[in-house]
Amino acid sequence: MQLLNEIKKNPTKIFGLVYPYILIISIGIGVFYLYKINYMEEATIPLSVPDTNVVQDLPLIMPSESITTDISSLTTPTPEMISKGKAIFDASCVACHGIDGKGDGIAAPALIPKPRNFTSKVGWVNGPKISGIFKTLSEGIKGSAMVSFSNLSPSDRFALADYIRKSFVTDPPEDSPEETADLVKTYHLEQKQKLPGQIPIADAMLLTENDYGKVYSHIQSILKNISTDSPKGAEIFYNVTNDKMKALVTLNNSTEWHKNQQVFIDIIINNINNDGFNDKVFDLSKNDWSTFYGYMNKLFY
Ligand code: HEC
Repeated sequence: MQLLNEIKKNPTKIFGLVYPYILIISIGIGVFYLYKINYMEEATIPLSVPDTNVVQDLPLIMPSESITTDISSLTTPTPEMISKGKAIFDASCVACHGIDGKGDGIAAPALIPKPRNFTSKVGWVNGPKISGIFKTLSEGIKGSAMVSFSNLSPSDRFALADYIRKSFVTDPPEDSPEETADLVKTYHLEQKQKLPGQIPIADAMLLTENDYGKVYSHIQSILKNISTDSPKGAEIFYNVTNDKMKALVTLNNSTEWHKNQQVFIDIIINNINNDGFNDKVFDLSKNDWSTFYGYMNKLFY
């Protein structure tokens, strides 16, 4: 009350009374702003886009008459093959085999049997010929930590063989022509056939009015069906494909296989590793093939 009376008598006093509060509030706002400015700056720094956000589309490939994989081009070590082999070796093999190929990688002490010492002549199971190393990489060695690397393309497997032989094996033995021919036959390495064209899905989607667009939306809807159900046939499809879209394009490019399971098998293995399918198909039993065939037949109709 007394305060009110005083203010009434001398109104300029209000200024003196309020001033400290205004000061405190202004300092408060200032501190808050300084505190926030850090955060505001951070928020305006543009974030770099991580690579994983880049969705890979199919590359554009024009239909081509025929290709022949020339086995001698694969089995002749070139500097490019050897350096490709080294890159894969350093990334996937040194943990066990060691940087010098002596079988003394960091994981080696825990392993029985021990990883192969490539610099030694003894103890090899499949041997250091190109065909032997290719077999090891394709099938692995049962009962050991040496698993199959059949997910690597054949050319990557040859590159690894070239690198190991060149860098670690003294006087590496050569394959006879018969052994090379056997290798080609066993792993279906030589192929000759027409290759279908392929356009990026993103482009195809824009062209829904023309044939390509229709084909791609058809195939995409098939792919969706596969991912929503999970019978044995779908499981096999997932197992034996590297590139699902491409595998479906391969099947879509022929109608012959609907009549006959052998044609279906031929279409898949004739161009294996380039047609969206991988060489796990060679592990399929007769029963698996007929389940798989029946399933795909149903999907495409
Ligand atoms: C997890 C450990 C491990 C990794 C990783 C590994 N290996 Fe092996 N590797 C082994 C073991 C263990 C053996 C010996 C198997 C045996 O004696 O039965 C072996 C054996 C081999 C052999 C000799 C086969 C023979 O004829 O005796 C080759 C060649 C080979 N590995 C290549 C590779 C290559 C190339 C890579 C990488 C792509 C690789 N390994 C990755 C453990 C590994």
